[in-house]
Amino acid sequence: MQRTLVLCKPDALHRRLLGTILQRLEQKGLRLVAAKLLRADRSLAERHYAVHRGKPFYEALLQFITSGPTLAMVWEGREAVSVVRTLLGPTDGAQAPPGTIRGDFALSVQNNLVHASDSVATAEQEIALWFRPEEIVPWESCDDRWVGATPG
Ligand code: RTP
Ligand code: MG
Repeated sequence: MQRTLVLCKPDALHRRLLGTILQRLEQKGLRLVAAKLLRADRSLAERHYAVHRGKPFYEALLQFITSGPTLAMVWEGREAVSVVRTLLGPTDGAQAPPGTIRGDFALSVQNNLVHASDSVATAEQEIALWFRPEEIVPWESCDDRWVGATPG
């Protein structure tokens, strides 16, 4: 069972798309195990996007991610890291295919609504950055076998 960090970025809140985005993750069968609404400060944004430091879009990205509220979440499920990345689609909304969140709702490369961890190792680091262990609420439902939570 994997966990992944998902951030609905400020544009998702500005555009009132939270419900739509969360519905897609839930309908896939993923399980929400942590959530909080916050406005990321510069320090948190720098640590989250440290891998992009020095890139041409870095300063604009920090301005964007700190410009308003972010809904930070941890989602859990079978192959959750790659499954959520697939649901999002490619970074650039203009290139993202229909049926993906970015493909259906984003036209920008920066304002692409949602962040999701790109590997299991990154997910562990990012979850630890955004959440304390006690903020994660594990749970099981009786229909987990129908959504593939337990292979076999
Ligand atoms: P994310 O980290 O947000 O899940 O997105 P990603 O993996 O698909 O894309 P990544 O390469 O990690 O870039 C992080 C975020 O930086 C912004 N970006 N802007 N202006 C640009 O050329 C540019 N490139 C990337 C996007 O908000 C992207 O999601
Ligand atoms: Mg990324």
